[in-house]
Amino acid sequence: MEKKEFLYEGKAKKVYSTDHDDRVIIYYKDDATAFNGEKRDQIEDKGIFNNSITSMIFELLEKHGVKTHFIKKLNEREQLCRKVEIIPLEVIVRNTAAGSMAKRLGIEEGMELKTTVFEISYKNDDLGDPLINDYHAVAIGLTTFEELETIYKTAERVNSILKDFFLKQNIKLIDFKLEFGRYNGEILLADEISPDTCRFWDAATGEKLDKDRFRRDLGNVREAYAEILKRIGGVVNA
Ligand code: C5P
Repeated sequence: MEKKEFLYEGKAKKVYSTDHDDRVIIYYKDDATAFNGEKRDQIEDKGIFNNSITSMIFELLEKHGVKTHFIKKLNEREQLCRKVEIIPLEVIVRNTAAGSMAKRLGIEEGMELKTTVFEISYKNDDLGDPLINDYHAVAIGLTTFEELETIYKTAERVNSILKDFFLKQNIKLIDFKLEFGRYNGEILLADEISPDTCRFWDAATGEKLDKDRFRRDLGNVREAYAEILKRIGGVVNA
């Protein structure tokens, strides 16, 4: 597969076309941003860690029958993926209260939720990714109720697979964000699943092993990403 022209640059990744119309190459950068791009820095080797972690997780999900855009990891920083049309929604799944939900509802971070919480946000930087509901999403033409049904069903399945998987590595999956894309009439799980997009707490100590270390200036950011890769059985070369 030959890398062709640069197509798009996001906050953490770049996308390139290939000589195959419906395949893209996704390159993982070391750039870290938070608070809608207000806080920026580089985390050394983050792109390498997140490419490895995402590749391992997407392979696991595919093994469990979840349809994803992922085809294969190409090298340290790149993966070959199906070229999807991204649905501009951030789908958030929460098992334990944290982050924006804890703040908005005035509850303690760490409160166990009596049910899994599913949220959707409109992916729009100018508006700061506002929280919306299914009706808003359909009313403004982002998706359909039928697509949403598939999206929520897949998100629930991903949660159940990943909660078990991470707990075996002594990691509590607090919450995470998913993105989906359209591909030949199907809905595929897209984007990444990494410490950038999940909250991971050590199951024994509660130590944060994710991007909150960067957002909240807790230090040892690189070490936390490396620790997640190590615990899930990946190779950390540094
Ligand atoms: O900030 P909030 O508590 O809403 O985040 C919930 C989850 O979604 C966290 O795991 C966070 O890392 C992830 N997220 C993300 N990208 C965003 C917003 C949230 O990956 N733009």
